[in-house]
Amino acid sequence: MLRRLHHEQPESFAYTPANDAWAKAQITKYPEGRQASAIIPLLWRAQEQEGWLTRPAIEYVADMLDMAYIRALEVATFYFMFQLQPVGTVAHIQICGTTSCMICGAEDLIGVCKEKIAPKAHQLSDDGKFSWEEVECLGACTNAPMAQIGKDYYEDLTTESFAKMLDDMAAGKVPVPGPQNGRYASEPRAGLTSLKEFDSGKTQYNASAQAAVDIGDSIKRIDGTEVPLITPWLQDAANSTAAPTNAKAEKSSPKAAPKAEEKLASVPEGGADDLKMISGVGPALEKKLHAARVTSFAQIAAWSEDDIIRMDDLLSFKGRIARDNWVEQAKKLASGIETDFSKRAKKADIYKN
Ligand code: FES
Repeated sequence: MLRRLHHEQPESFAYTPANDAWAKAQITKYPEGRQASAIIPLLWRAQEQEGWLTRPAIEYVADMLDMAYIRALEVATFYFMFQLQPVGTVAHIQICGTTSCMICGAEDLIGVCKEKIAPKAHQLSDDGKFSWEEVECLGACTNAPMAQIGKDYYEDLTTESFAKMLDDMAAGKVPVPGPQNGRYASEPRAGLTSLKEFDSGKTQYNASAQAAVDIGDSIKRIDGTEVPLITPWLQDAANSTAAPTNAKAEKSSPKAAPKAEEKLASVPEGGADDLKMISGVGPALEKKLHAARVTSFAQIAAWSEDDIIRMDDLLSFKGRIARDNWVEQAKKLASGIETDFSKRAKKADIYKN
């Protein structure tokens, strides 16, 4: 299947403060130089925040991890867990259409989706609450046909039980995940014939469904506030919601800022300039520049070639400063002249919170 970015994209993306703290903590799980390994959880959290994965979100995560955009795009477009177009605000339904499910009625479930949600996969329902798609085997073949909805599996479905589930969700309810035909798990329909001792002392639902009920996040999108950050590898991590404490972050902290930047530092009257008016500087890079005490157009306008090499290294964006011609842009902006980009950026208010 061809997976492309959606034709309509928002202008910008930024993590919420809670998600930002969470993401920075995730990055610290990986050794210095291997931060790119955090790409999947960070993209996933961006998707949880927005509902789907936008191009600005992919680029924002790439900036955070010092990755080329194409590398992050490769990950986002490869894995089907990433939704590259808007999905229903209540739920995105993933119907398994592989052999066992197909034989047991997946096509009928897809018929329900077409009737109740939208005629085509990845289309939003009229009220915007639902969307659907057919996916490959989800590994619950003994409970076919099934669907993944949000974070859980709904199994042993019939057109009737599935249609009712959709109605319940539209009404704000969250049906209990797991088998929908009375089975506890994936035992024979007539009950256990062996290993019966495991039948005693069981929870009301099977372990997966019980956890889903206990946690209650089947179709709820996580937002970074649910669980405390657990980063035992960091000295003061237990309650940390602060800035990243990995070596790279330390390197770009104000304390470690290169002396040349301190020498040039001069916060303009009225506060820092909006460095995002320079094409190539997004919110993430602006934060890094601030951490290096670069806050004004005048500072960037004064960069020498040596400064550019050092800042390239500090920002981990080899060649970007020259490629986007930050210095020339900054010279104009420092003199009060708008650039084509700054005019467009202001007009579209692309960095509006
Ligand atoms: S065939 Fe549907 S879960 Fe495996």
